[in-house]
Amino acid sequence: MAKPTARFVCQSCGAVAPKWQGRCDACGEWNTLTEEVAEIRAPGPAGKAAGGRRVEFVSLKGRAAPPPRTESGMAELDRVLGGGFVPGSVVLVGGDPGIGKSTILLQAAARIASAGRRVLYISGEEAIDQVRLRALRLGLSESPLGLAASTSLRDIAASLEEEKEATLVIIDSIQTVWLDSLDSAPGTVSQVRACAAELTRLAKTRGFAVVLVGHVTKEGTLAGPRVLEHMVDATLYFEGDRGHQFRILRAVKNRFGATDEIGVFEMTDRGLVEVANPSALFLAERRGNISGSAVFAGMEGTRPVLVEIQALLSPSASGGSPRRQVVGWDSGRLAMLMAVLESRCRVSLGQNDVYLNIAGGLRINEPAADLAVAAALVSAATDRPTDPGSVFFGEVGLSGEVRQVSQTDLRLREAAKLGFSAAMLPRRVARGGRAAAAHDGLRLSEIGHLVDLVAPLAAAPPARKEKDRDKERKEKPAAE
Ligand code: TYD
Ligand code: MG
Repeated sequence: MAKPTARFVCQSCGAVAPKWQGRCDACGEWNTLTEEVAEIRAPGPAGKAAGGRRVEFVSLKGRAAPPPRTESGMAELDRVLGGGFVPGSVVLVGGDPGIGKSTILLQAAARIASAGRRVLYISGEEAIDQVRLRALRLGLSESPLGLAASTSLRDIAASLEEEKEATLVIIDSIQTVWLDSLDSAPGTVSQVRACAAELTRLAKTRGFAVVLVGHVTKEGTLAGPRVLEHMVDATLYFEGDRGHQFRILRAVKNRFGATDEIGVFEMTDRGLVEVANPSALFLAERRGNISGSAVFAGMEGTRPVLVEIQALLSPSASGGSPRRQVVGWDSGRLAMLMAVLESRCRVSLGQNDVYLNIAGGLRINEPAADLAVAAALVSAATDRPTDPGSVFFGEVGLSGEVRQVSQTDLRLREAAKLGFSAAMLPRRVARGGRAAAAHDGLRLSEIGHLVDLVAPLAAAPPARKEKDRDKERKEKPAAE
């Protein structure tokens, strides 16, 4: 017999607790537990007696065609998806409210519909008129897209069950749709999970791809997309700072493609525009001859991306422990790197507040950024600019040794393509210790230990003073 019991479910990670508590034991988030009524079914018997059928076992060898794909025509989106939407798959697109999820999906949906496929866009958040107005603004009104506004999953499922031709169905958002057979409110973990499970079933049986939009909220009032991650085939996060116009679509899970692949977009007044050359964009606002800046030759998935790393040191005003403020990088990693610089290279960062920023709003997870961050820090500490024509990459170990990273050639090629003339990189083992070779016209300085980076930087001429720069600017105002 089904027996309803009260339980408390974390709206952030989905963990279940028997009683209310302020903090979730599983994920450590505060105020995320809400009461949900769950039907606990007594587990019945399984097997032949309960009507089970034999499953068929086959050999690994056999026919296995790669999945056919529906390309969106937006190359950056297709790249992150691994080549386009796969029939029968479920993709979760998560991100902060207002970041541009509805915009990008409407753009992709309209394009696919214009290419002659049947695409359905079901909006639970916005009324038909609102979506139409957005389409008008984006210049997509002529697209033969099927649009509906509904939040009842019963109605949605009834309509989708009859769909024969649909290629792609977009549910915007999973937190607004709900099943009336469940007692919980829309947006709770039970609702979100049950609705996603039903939509997944429909996708698999009907053969269309489903995109679920999911909001991430810090307050945890709505069930975060994290509770859905294990149910879906691919999870993409749409990130970016609303102060910046760049938006980054990142695959964190993909059963049909590579993860850590990113797509870069720019939010304009006519919607999201693809950025084919992100390095140029991230470096566009770089100013030369300033201390505390270094260019990192990084990899995002299969693509090299150059970004500027900025460090600023200022005497700590508080008198207590100095501040460490990091945007776009791991603060634990910064602490480690500072300790290595101080104890292995005698660079004194002392009682300064340290600010570290990845310009352009990108988030970097690669350890390969260590060397560039170290260069920016040393440059800030010594007030000597790094060579503006040089890129940096390499992982730094605790003894200060600089370690190999992957994809050296791709990183160097990207640097050469963007007009850089030199690179500081780990010593390459395969080349038999042949230091300072050239590559694509780049001067290569192989760095074995962090001190090899610090010494030449400290000996470089100091940065121009802000005063001189202002004077220069006044003298030739139209220089830029
Ligand atoms: P939206 O797609 O509604 O965000 P989400 O679905 O993730 O909540 O995007 C909303 C923001 O995007 C809003 O602040 C306005 C901005 N925007 C533009 O700058 N240009 C445009 O052409 C559109 C449609 C939206
Ligand atoms: Mg939206």
